[in-house]
Amino acid sequence: MPKEDLLRLLRDPNLLLPEKQTLISDIAAQAAAMDMPCYLVGGFVRDLLLGERTNDLDIVVEGDAIKFGNALISKFGGTLTLHRKFHTAIWHLPETWNLVPDTLDLITVRKETYAESGALPTVTLASIEDDLRRRDFTINAMAIRIDGGHFGELLDPLGGRADLESGLIRVLHPGSFVDDPTRIFRAIRYEIRYSFSLHPSTLKLINSESLFVIQKLSGERIRHELDLIFEEEKSAQMILRAGELDLFKSIHLKLPLFNPDYFDFLEMDVILDIPASRTVIGYMLWLMDSSEDEILSIGRRLEFTSDLTYSAWAVSQLKKSLPFLKDSKPSVWTFALERLPLLSIYMVYLVTRENALLDFLSVWRHVKAHTTGDDLKARGLEPGPRFGEILTQLRAAWLDGDVKDKEQEIEYLNALL
Ligand code: CTP
Repeated sequence: MPKEDLLRLLRDPNLLLPEKQTLISDIAAQAAAMDMPCYLVGGFVRDLLLGERTNDLDIVVEGDAIKFGNALISKFGGTLTLHRKFHTAIWHLPETWNLVPDTLDLITVRKETYAESGALPTVTLASIEDDLRRRDFTINAMAIRIDGGHFGELLDPLGGRADLESGLIRVLHPGSFVDDPTRIFRAIRYEIRYSFSLHPSTLKLINSESLFVIQKLSGERIRHELDLIFEEEKSAQMILRAGELDLFKSIHLKLPLFNPDYFDFLEMDVILDIPASRTVIGYMLWLMDSSEDEILSIGRRLEFTSDLTYSAWAVSQLKKSLPFLKDSKPSVWTFALERLPLLSIYMVYLVTRENALLDFLSVWRHVKAHTTGDDLKARGLEPGPRFGEILTQLRAAWLDGDVKDKEQEIEYLNALL
C-alpha cells in the first residue's frame, strides 16, 4: 500500500480522533529518539485499513518496552504497570488527557511457543516479523511502523491486506486452532462482524482435533470468548454459527443450541430501572429451557459467578412455574417474584409476554402499606413474627385492591388486630 494512502488514513479524524493522532506522534517521536523501531499492530491496523473507526491502540517495539515506557512517563507523565516476565508495560496515560481507554499496552516483540495444546504460551524475544507470525489470522497480522522517517510504513508479510480485500479469515498455520482453540471463537466473531468468510482451508481446521482441545480450556477462557460474542452487535448470528460448527458439545455435553426464537431478545434494550448486561442476558436466554441440574453443571464448567448461575436458574424456574401462577392474585405473584433477580423476571416476560410479570416490575413491586413497624408498636403490639405477618397482610390487601386508601387500610388493620 502506498505510504501516502496509509498516512491519509492515519490523519483522518473520522477514523482516528485528533487526540489519538497526537498520542501516536508523541510515541513515534520518543521511539525515534531512542532509536527503537516501533509499530502499531493487530486490530488497530485491520480496522484502519477497513475504514472503520479505531479505538484501541496496541504498540509493539523492537526493544525493551519497559525502558520505552519509563522514557514516555518521564517525558509526558502518567504511570506504568510492569509485567517483567512478558517484557510489557501498561502506560496509564496522564489524567488530564482524558483519553478513552486511559491505558496503553506497550509490548516487546515476542515469539510464542506452546509447550502443550491449549496451554498459555512461552514467550521469547524476537523480531516484528516473528511477532506477526505468532498471531491468529492474516488480517490481524499486519503492522504500521511509526518511528521517525518510517512513519506510515505498512508491514504485511502474511498477505493480510489481500485477505481483508477478499473478505477472508485465514489462520497463519495449520496448527493454529490446536495451539489456541479460543481462536475458533475469534474466527467466528470476525467472520460475522465484518460479513467475511472463513477461508476453506481454515474452515477445515475446525475439526474434531481442534474441537477436542476446547475441552482442555479453562471455563474462564471459554466464558471470556462467549462474553465477547454477546457484546457484539451481531451476537445472534455468531452464536448460531458457533452452533453450526458444533462448538457447544466440546464446551459441555448439555450445552444446548441457542433457541433461534430468542435471538431478537439479545438485541432488546432493558426498560425500567433494571441493571442489565448483554452477556448476562445472553446466558439467561441460552439456558432458559435447561433443567436445574444442567444449569448448575454448565455454570460450573463456565465458571459463572454465583450471581450469574442464580439468575440463569431463576429464569428457567420462573418460566416453568408460570402455568401454576397463572390467574393468581397480584399478591401471590408479588410474593413469589420478589425473591428473584429483576432481570430474570424481565427476560421471562420478554419471551412469554405474561402481563403479570410486567405489572410486577412496573407497579406491584413498589406497592407498600402505609403502616410501619413503629405504628404497630405505638398500638401496643410486641415486636415479633406477628409484626411481619400483619405488614404482609396489609401489603397483600393493597396489591389485591381490598384496600384503596389510608382510611381503608386502618379499618383493615383494626379488623386484623
Ligand atoms: N491475538 C492472537 N491470538 C489470540 C488473541 C489475540 O493472535 N488468541 C492477536 C491478534 O493479532 C489480535 C491482537 O492479538 O489482533 C489483539 O487481540 P485483541 O485485542 O483480543 O483483538 P483485536 O484485534 O483488538 O480485535 P477486537 O476488535 O475483536 O478486539
